[in-house]
Amino acid sequence: MTLNLKYTIGLSAFLLLLSCQLHKQSFHIDQLTVEGRENFIGLQSQSPRLSWKITTSKGRNTKQTAYRVYVSSSEKKAESGDADLWNSGKVYSDSSISIRFAGKTLESYRHLYWKVKVWTNQGDSAISTVNQWRMAMLQTKEWKAEWIGLDTFSKGDAPHRQQTRLAARYLRKEVAVSKKIRNASAFISGLGLYQLYINGQKIGNDVLTPTPTDYNHDVPYNTYDITQNLKKGNNGIGVILGNGRFFNMRDFRGKPDPITQMSHINYGFPRMILQIRLEYTDGSIGYITSDKSWKVTDDGPIRANNEYDGEEYDARKELNNWNKPGYDDAKWGSADLVAAPGGKLFSQTNENIRIKETVSPKKIHKTTKGTYILDMGQNMVGWLRIRIKGNAGDTVRMVFAERMKNTDSLYIANLRDARVTDTYVIKGTGNETWEPTFTYHGFQYVEVSGLSYAPSVADFEGQVVYDDVPTIGQFHTSNSTINQIYNNAYWSIRGNYRGIPTDCPQRDERVAWLGDRLMSSYGESFIFDNSRLYSKWMADAKSAQKQNGSLPNIIPAYWINDTDNVTYPSAFIIIPEMLRKQFGDEKTYRSYYPDMKKWVLYMWNTYNQNDLVLKDSYGDWCVAPEEGTNTIWTSDPKRTTDGGLLASSYYYYCLSLMENFARLQGLDADVSTFVQLKKRVFTAFNKKFFNHQSGHYANNTTTANLLPLTFGLVPEDKKNAIVQKIVDRTAEYGNHVNSGIMGMMWIMRGLSDHGRPDLAYTLATNTTYPSWGYMAANGATTIWELWNGNTADPLMSSWNHQMLLGDLLIWYYEYLAGIKSDTQATAFKKIIMNPIFPEGLNYVQASYESKYGTIKSHWVKGNGKLSWNIVVPANSTAKVYLPTSDIGAIQEGNTPLAGKSGFVIKESVEDRTVVEIGSGVYNFIINQ
Ligand code: BGC
Repeated sequence: MTLNLKYTIGLSAFLLLLSCQLHKQSFHIDQLTVEGRENFIGLQSQSPRLSWKITTSKGRNTKQTAYRVYVSSSEKKAESGDADLWNSGKVYSDSSISIRFAGKTLESYRHLYWKVKVWTNQGDSAISTVNQWRMAMLQTKEWKAEWIGLDTFSKGDAPHRQQTRLAARYLRKEVAVSKKIRNASAFISGLGLYQLYINGQKIGNDVLTPTPTDYNHDVPYNTYDITQNLKKGNNGIGVILGNGRFFNMRDFRGKPDPITQMSHINYGFPRMILQIRLEYTDGSIGYITSDKSWKVTDDGPIRANNEYDGEEYDARKELNNWNKPGYDDAKWGSADLVAAPGGKLFSQTNENIRIKETVSPKKIHKTTKGTYILDMGQNMVGWLRIRIKGNAGDTVRMVFAERMKNTDSLYIANLRDARVTDTYVIKGTGNETWEPTFTYHGFQYVEVSGLSYAPSVADFEGQVVYDDVPTIGQFHTSNSTINQIYNNAYWSIRGNYRGIPTDCPQRDERVAWLGDRLMSSYGESFIFDNSRLYSKWMADAKSAQKQNGSLPNIIPAYWINDTDNVTYPSAFIIIPEMLRKQFGDEKTYRSYYPDMKKWVLYMWNTYNQNDLVLKDSYGDWCVAPEEGTNTIWTSDPKRTTDGGLLASSYYYYCLSLMENFARLQGLDADVSTFVQLKKRVFTAFNKKFFNHQSGHYANNTTTANLLPLTFGLVPEDKKNAIVQKIVDRTAEYGNHVNSGIMGMMWIMRGLSDHGRPDLAYTLATNTTYPSWGYMAANGATTIWELWNGNTADPLMSSWNHQMLLGDLLIWYYEYLAGIKSDTQATAFKKIIMNPIFPEGLNYVQASYESKYGTIKSHWVKGNGKLSWNIVVPANSTAKVYLPTSDIGAIQEGNTPLAGKSGFVIKESVEDRTVVEIGSGVYNFIINQ
């Protein structure tokens, strides 16, 4: 939860302005964050990481030379510079991200006010405005509240059916407040999902709260400032509880799901815990807590809620004013005191879900059945807000689908047994407006039935919902296929951010498969600040790990899938590296290093055969089939990569990452363990998989050659030949992609790094099968699960999956735009700008909001010139690779580059002139 601080733009803004005037200060300090969040309420860490950005509109080469952080216990103190909780002192350093708070012990509920002063190499200094954060309830024993719910089912519920039904629970309590409140906070966990109301008002802007976890291990709670919501006198507090992932959506009565062969977990009936802490103006403290004095009913309007099947709402049963004081709850029962879920309560710091955008239907048409079909014009994730009218008891039904079967019917076969139907029973009071509370759908089309009149598009509004993560990347090129693919990726990624990165949002699945995100999490990080989502997911992974070190393939394990496997669980090693590289997150890999090591060694000790870990479950998932349009997987042995090669090469890659993590922490003994293991694997791998006669790996698939090449398993003298094998195999498929997801994660970079960026560009712009462009050319507005998604067997054909993107987005940003974080540092403190400028592509316009500020790369070719505009944020530097070895052909800002001051000219690298630049705006012109 974040605070809305009026005072931040009060006095301090004025002072800032004044000081700017007086000192002609050339920069500002803004975007102060604590653990990545601005003005956050509910922080749990004793040594949170503080960051800020330096923004400057003019000048070049601005670098921080020193900083001083002030943390105070009151706003007044912060303003005056009385840092009674922590004064870092003047620290001579250019670090402006992840500065550890090292002041006084932080107690529960504490309000902290902070600002930072920065000195730069330009000889001036600036001070930020005051920001705030608040501590969570830090000790479990501080919870006085009890878990309550309704531990039974009623008529109409169907808890033991394949598609379960359960009515939402409404809980209420009236409390009198007799003294003046200085501050009030609500701490709440409602599982699976809750909505909290005070005096009729919904608290917070989040929906589908809280974030999902394995509730046997971790129970997230949210904190809200409710000072303005409570009033003197009687107050009504209400909570609605939905099922989410807590109450099972499917029940196969002890048997596994017949389609997936997996068991679904059930945590029981929904339940909640709420503690409100009141700080009165007289200094005393009071509490309002959930306990058995609360009243409960499940006889409200939400008759059933299930994320797969939809929500059923009977408006005639609305409980008017139930969440306000004075409501007659005589017919309600007493809340059941229920068992706490097994997990530990923790304060959630990753973003909750919000309604992020609304979409108006593009078209509406009447079917021969008399129903109406809406076309949203975009495959989206969320729900429909409706405005309708009718007679009391009329039932309006909405069925959601990604595709049309024909003009009269939706295509729902690919949704398997998800009913995806919202039902609204009209109360008959005129215009009625409604949207569901505890479900979401993946859809472009909605079939509406039960209306007695022709509705118009204005009666409907699509609500796009996903984690409230900031969009930090913008990307546009002169190629419309690339632009459409980028747009499709953008929609697929955000549509699957739901506190966990789900595989898909529409069918009866929607779980977080580790393998799908191994590399795409990295590509996604160019578009969204997904750092808190993924670091939370790594916490989920730690919780899912067994005592012996084993990891499942789906986390949280709502579906039980724990066959050991190298590729999918290697996300636990690969994603912490993405967080380090892209966001400078040193915490995630350090926190889980012992657990990561445990998994790596467990796999070695359990499965090592002659120095190779060959354990694989899913192969190179989803290679494009050529044996018929409706096939899901290829069964062509020539195109299927040996699972043992996938496992052992990814295992080798994990060892390399572990070696580096150990080195970064100074764990010398571990470094040598990993180095030794790598040596053994290297030898054994080449012995087993390299075919000396034909000079390729395993059966010579693209993936079989690409993985060893990428992971450093190919001896130097064989590299060129292996690259040629990849190129040849690709040519055999008409220069089209021919790998599954394990190979796709490296193909674009692999080709570009080994002299064939032109071939990578061909793959990126193909519009014939199989390609991303083929999807776009066939009307896709999201990325499909299968290359032949338009014709494949519906058993497995989501139209909103992101895994086939492979490393495409990384390639867009790092290789087309040339925005890449140098491995010499992290989080783009040092930027490598070395685009490939492919033949046929005329311009790229990209920007990326790094932890240091905005990076821009806009290049355009024309009239024998290349014009390249670059923005480097303050406190960062960039190494720019200008595409000519002739320095005389380069101008910057209308003057020749040669001899110009402020540019460190490095030696030419192949056909490039390399210059090192500091922050600022640059315009290079290169004669070509
Ligand atoms: C999921 C995939 C996943 C795969 C693994 C599918 O059902 O949707 O994304 O990687 O199973 O087998």
